[in-house]
Amino acid sequence: MLIGVPREIKVHEYRVGLTPESVRDLAARGYRVMVEKSAGEGIGASDGDYRTAGANIASTPEEVFAAAELIVKVKEPLAGERARLRPGQTLFTYLHLAPDAEQVRDLVRSGVIAIAYETVTSPTGGLPLLAPMSEVAGRMAVQVAAHYLERPSGGRGVLVSGASGVAPARVVVLGAGVVGSNAARIAAGMGAEVVMLSRSAGPLQRLQAELGPSLRAFVLSPEDLDRELREADAVIGSAMVPGGLAPKLVTRAMLATMKKGAVLVDVSIDQGGCFETSRPTTHADPVFEVDGILHYCVANMPGAVPRTSTYALNRATLPFVLDLAQRGIVEALRANAGLRDGLNVCRGKVTRREVAEALGYACTGALEALGTRAAG
Ligand SMILES: NC(=O)c1ccc[n+]([C@@H]2O[C@H](COP(=O)([O-])OP(=O)(O)OC[C@H]3O[C@@H](n4cnc5c(N)ncnc54)[C@H](O)[C@@H]3O)[C@@H](O)[C@H]2O)c1
Repeated sequence: MLIGVPREIKVHEYRVGLTPESVRDLAARGYRVMVEKSAGEGIGASDGDYRTAGANIASTPEEVFAAAELIVKVKEPLAGERARLRPGQTLFTYLHLAPDAEQVRDLVRSGVIAIAYETVTSPTGGLPLLAPMSEVAGRMAVQVAAHYLERPSGGRGVLVSGASGVAPARVVVLGAGVVGSNAARIAAGMGAEVVMLSRSAGPLQRLQAELGPSLRAFVLSPEDLDRELREADAVIGSAMVPGGLAPKLVTRAMLATMKKGAVLVDVSIDQGGCFETSRPTTHADPVFEVDGILHYCVANMPGAVPRTSTYALNRATLPFVLDLAQRGIVEALRANAGLRDGLNVCRGKVTRREVAEALGYACTGALEALGTRAAG
């Protein structure tokens, strides 16, 4: 199997699909790896490091896309990359398809097998390839909010921790999953008053037990949301339904009730966002203002801390890359139900129900699209 790693080309995306250490692991087992020139620059890994690990270095992305059976990336393929995909090829990366009609159209047309990191599941039901980046983004979300609350950044001029005799910032977190709980921990650690609203009581109770009185937690109701938005200095949006569109929890009308200069960080923007007024932004131009409220909607937040993020991501993805290489793509998908949950588009068919529903496609079962039956 030839595994290809192109250089990421999304704006300010510095992560890379495989670290030199992962390449060494694959090469030691006899798999060929082709890495695009300078792909590891953002994590401080040179072409020489990849060569020493056993990779061939390709001087262009065309070479990688033409040769690779399995392409391992980080972010969704952009239009130019999608044009290079071909039948018989497998793409393993974040895709976030439900809000992205053009990408789904191109992936369907390309005939590839497209496996999305964010919908791969573990036997216990978690999202093992989303979780490491959600941890990073959740932690970053509070850093980002703190920065944009500063007056020169456009915020209302509030220090998250407050000062002696002056109240700290109030940080409201929507969603109690991996992003939300990491954001709450960091916000509490910085001395903020933290409020969390989410759909079900269990995760809220666990976090309440961990953080004690620094957290107030509620099962989301319109009344609680309304009250907490009025008092918020920063709101972190992290609600999502795996593979589907994020629920729009905050409408434009609600912005009018908020304090001017408050900051919204919409981490769920990759799934369409949970604020009605959100639209994706980039690290080059991360914020915009609507009705006096600052919106930060960067869809690849962990790309800004690529050394931490690439290693965290690779630790999670490598076992799946090895499985795909060892068993072969179709057999690995047949045998590994968690990996199969990651299959979103397969040989011209949409195989993920939430994506099909969001964009009006028929949904084909993963095994049917693969032309096989489940293992066992
Ligand atoms: N912007 C970025 O760079 C970036 C990076 C990593 C993750 N993300 C995204 O962040 C989002 C959250 O990821 P996660 O790993 O924390 O997911 P998760 O599944 O762990 O948590 C999602 C939470 O949302 C809650 N929820 C769902 N619907 C809700 C509703 N209607 N009201 C209230 N709460 C609701 C769920 O109960 C759960 O607590 C995802 O969209 C993910 O793709 C973005």
